[in-house]
Amino acid sequence: MTEPSIDKVNNILVVGAGAMGSQIGMVCSLAGYGVTVQDIDEGMLEKAQEQLRARMARNVEKGRMEQNEVNAAFDRMSFTNDLEGSASETDFVIEAAVEKLDVKRELFGKLDEAAPEHAILATNSSTIVSSQVADATDRSDRVCNMHFFNPALVMKCVEVVRGPKTSDATVETTVELTRRIGKAPVVLSKEISGFVANRILGALRDEAISLHEKGVASIEDIDTACKTALGHPMGPFELMDLTGIDVGYYVKMARYEESGDPKDKPKKSVVEKFEKNELGRKTGKGWYEYDEQGRKKAPSESEV
Ligand code: 3HC
Repeated sequence: MTEPSIDKVNNILVVGAGAMGSQIGMVCSLAGYGVTVQDIDEGMLEKAQEQLRARMARNVEKGRMEQNEVNAAFDRMSFTNDLEGSASETDFVIEAAVEKLDVKRELFGKLDEAAPEHAILATNSSTIVSSQVADATDRSDRVCNMHFFNPALVMKCVEVVRGPKTSDATVETTVELTRRIGKAPVVLSKEISGFVANRILGALRDEAISLHEKGVASIEDIDTACKTALGHPMGPFELMDLTGIDVGYYVKMARYEESGDPKDKPKKSVVEKFEKNELGRKTGKGWYEYDEQGRKKAPSESEV
């Protein structure tokens, strides 16, 4: 068997062209890697390219990056529907598809068939620990979680989580790759749902939602308290709108399925938002409303 190693990592495949996947791809290509972003949905691929081009144009405009640096990064990137074809040429996969176990297991099975032996298959999931997808492959030692934070172009932390069968070489390679793309690795030596940052964030979020549901304060005032009393860059409701209310919903459902504890279920107002497809910035409405440019408008009518 060929052991994974950072020296073998030249081409990275990101599966899923949502906000996370596309930005993870951009981070890797800006760091000099060849990147393929794959998605089954052509529309998602187009949207991803448009958003990344707009984001990079802004960085050039603001003097944060040189135009030639951005051009070179886009030259190293390709966007495709072809999973097997792109997997056959990759050295490292970062899967950032929908947070559904059956979808991920099927993907990992296909990736395992197509990818070279030395390739690591990492999942960006924060809820599905890699051992749940590793056994859909014949390379459990080369599977781990590599969890980025939203927005991936900005947030420095990447949690690297070792599954029970993940090899040292896989952890070392993933940690080194994290450093080489300019991120700060946080290593978890064992699996736990939610990992470190999201478990802490989840506790804060639960308290914020519960204060809102009890009618103690408006979502705006709770957000203001977190920003002005605690120095958080965003309030918990603003952050849920950024990361997606559906993502939070699935996280809670997964935690509940694991623990069986009703306290782990998504809160009532989150379920309501989820059922109304008010998922945050991406649908134009979540806890707040957003205009076409993604700027926040007044709080949603439906609060309290
Ligand atoms: N995508 C990419 N870059 C973005 C961005 C986005 N969605 N939003 C902001 N930025 C970058 C841009 O460069 C922007 O500057 P520009 O607009 O001039 O180009 C710069 O950040 C500053 O943005 P803003 O002036 O709009 O606002 P802030 O100064 O508040 O910064 C923020 C935005 C970086 C998102 C900051 O508010 C922040 O750090 N918020 C907390 C984010 C956080 O907690 N993330 C973790 C979420 S949990 C998670 O991801 C786990 C997962 O499992 C769900």
